[in-house]
Amino acid sequence: MAEKSKDLPDTELLAAAIAARANAYVPYSGYHVGAALRGKNGKIYTGVNVENAAYPEGTCAEAAAIAAMVLDGEREIAEVAVAGPEGAIITPCGGCRQKLREFSRATVAVHSCDPTGCKQTVTIGDLLPHAFSPEHLS
Ligand code: THU
Repeated sequence: MAEKSKDLPDTELLAAAIAARANAYVPYSGYHVGAALRGKNGKIYTGVNVENAAYPEGTCAEAAAIAAMVLDGEREIAEVAVAGPEGAIITPCGGCRQKLREFSRATVAVHSCDPTGCKQTVTIGDLLPHAFSPEHLS
């Protein structure tokens, strides 16, 4: 099993993911998701899911947050929070696990939140074990 981060969830990061949810564009699923990434540079990058009429085409919250981070010139994720509806333990979809792993070591913490706070913490290595990762190509 992957090593777990011993750090407590970053409350500012959780709050950013929860706040972002309000702006999700989800006319088809009605399922609001917010994501927040802490870059190694200390900054927080947020994203929401954005759907369209060809649903399930669309962009996940995690992918939007990664795009914001990369646009800002950051390439390393230190911590991740994903926020879904109350009572849910939301975890990134398969495609987003690979996208997160591109910019995260396997030990990076991924917090699943609902509007009341953190429900579960695992690592990206737990979510995507034996990943094909950038190290394979270096
Ligand atoms: N979704 C995310 O944005 N992130 C996840 O981790 C899981 C699912 C979105 C995709 C779609 O807009 C909606 O949630 C329902 O699947």
